Amino acid sequence: MPSSVVTGAQWGDEGKGKIIDILSESSDYIIRYQGGNNAGHTVVIDGESFILHLIPSGILHKGKTCIIGNGVVVNPVALIDEIEKLNARGIKAGKNLLISEQAHIIFPYHWKMDELREIAKGRSKIGTTKRGIGPCYTDKVSRCGIRMADLLDVNIFSRKLKANLKEKNAILRNVYGFKGYSLATLSRQYMGYRKKIKGYIKDTTVIINKALDDKKRVLFEGAQGALLDVDFGTYPYVTSSNSTAGGACIGTGVGPSRIGKVIGVVKAYTTRVGEGPFPTEFSDKLMNIVRTKGKEFGATTGRPRRCGWFDALIVKHAVMVSGITEIVVTKLDVLDDLEKIKVCTGYTYRGKSFKTFPTNIEKLFKVKPQYEEWPGWMSDTSGVRSFNKLPRNAVGYLKRLSDLVGAKISMVSVGSERKQTLKL
Ligand code: GDP
Ligand code: IMO
Ligand code: MG
Repeated sequence: MPSSVVTGAQWGDEGKGKIIDILSESSDYIIRYQGGNNAGHTVVIDGESFILHLIPSGILHKGKTCIIGNGVVVNPVALIDEIEKLNARGIKAGKNLLISEQAHIIFPYHWKMDELREIAKGRSKIGTTKRGIGPCYTDKVSRCGIRMADLLDVNIFSRKLKANLKEKNAILRNVYGFKGYSLATLSRQYMGYRKKIKGYIKDTTVIINKALDDKKRVLFEGAQGALLDVDFGTYPYVTSSNSTAGGACIGTGVGPSRIGKVIGVVKAYTTRVGEGPFPTEFSDKLMNIVRTKGKEFGATTGRPRRCGWFDALIVKHAVMVSGITEIVVTKLDVLDDLEKIKVCTGYTYRGKSFKTFPTNIEKLFKVKPQYEEWPGWMSDTSGVRSFNKLPRNAVGYLKRLSDLVGAKISMVSVGSERKQTLKL
């Protein structure tokens, strides 16, 4: 089957961007299926760094078709900025980029609502990226959202925006004490964006299915990770879309029978940005060491990422809910200098031990991780170019991770550059 899904198997930022860039070389179509500009996918080519938020990471390869699927929520300001910045760096984002006419559009009231809700929540905030992702998906599900196709028809667009503003402004004023938005101003702004993006808007579902009929190689790009999935993640500390592999079907209009491989990307340790339970989180000393070596600062918000040991329970959960057929382990090099490396193989809660990820969030906040300790390899792996040249202890560590999560490893990454990738 010529289609593959690349999905995060932890709490996001696993290095999906790098892996999608590598796999794009042997793909014809690269398609983002969910999320919005809350994502930050980094690709490093010869020391030059590109951070993609909405546009598929395959855009850096010539001759590929990149699609923003119906499951993505699109902020036109962010999209235009990304297109212009890529063009300014000599990367073409023209006819090779398509946007689904069914993708929902983010408006300023979405990101304002996101921000004000977070402030109102106080200590129980989610720690969102404040990009308006949750409120935009809320409108989609409550059937008042505005889609790309609506932007093409000025009358329909105006009618929908007017109806939305009536409700949003009332909420913003009465609940949050914010002045609200003017219809005339927003209409003028969005008509300006319309001019710039209307050429990209297409019926992408037909295009993708035709590509599969024609045996083209299709790569579905997930954003976030399984533990941020709105159904299967650490709810409510999640994002508002289905980031698990199943989201690729819903977010592009392709049936499950057309999905081939599911590639789960995992870090050799764990990170998360924002609030929520994190059983294997490091204490201060290790946190600083790993955060500094791994440059663990958000690609979208710049926030320091929380870091911890590899948690086999959460990845095993991701392997199950995404039907992961193989894993790619990234950032192995970050662990190079550690004398001892721990892996969480179970949790203890109220004196009882268990080996599966609990759906009860209150329980997850209180569990104590059970660790296995592995000797470090204490040598630089960033220059290693083949799996069998890795230090023995690193190979032992990787094999153990693979056994614990129940999926074979297909690639190991030892640095952010393309050449720092070991294929198995
Ligand atoms: P994504 O959201 O899953 O695409 O991941 P991000 O781009 O947000 O974060 C991953 C970060 O790790 C980026 O800065 C990558 O350049 C970097 N990275 C990816 N793979 C490796 C690796 O194997 N080693 C190191 N040191 N950095 C890596
Ligand atoms: P990529 O694709 C890591 C997190 C936020 C917050 C929660 C909800 O780069 O892996 P949202 O703004 O989506 O409503 O925030 O989800 N989050 C991410 N964390 N990587 C991401 O994307 C994320 N996108 C959202 O930090 O905890
Ligand atoms: Mg990221």
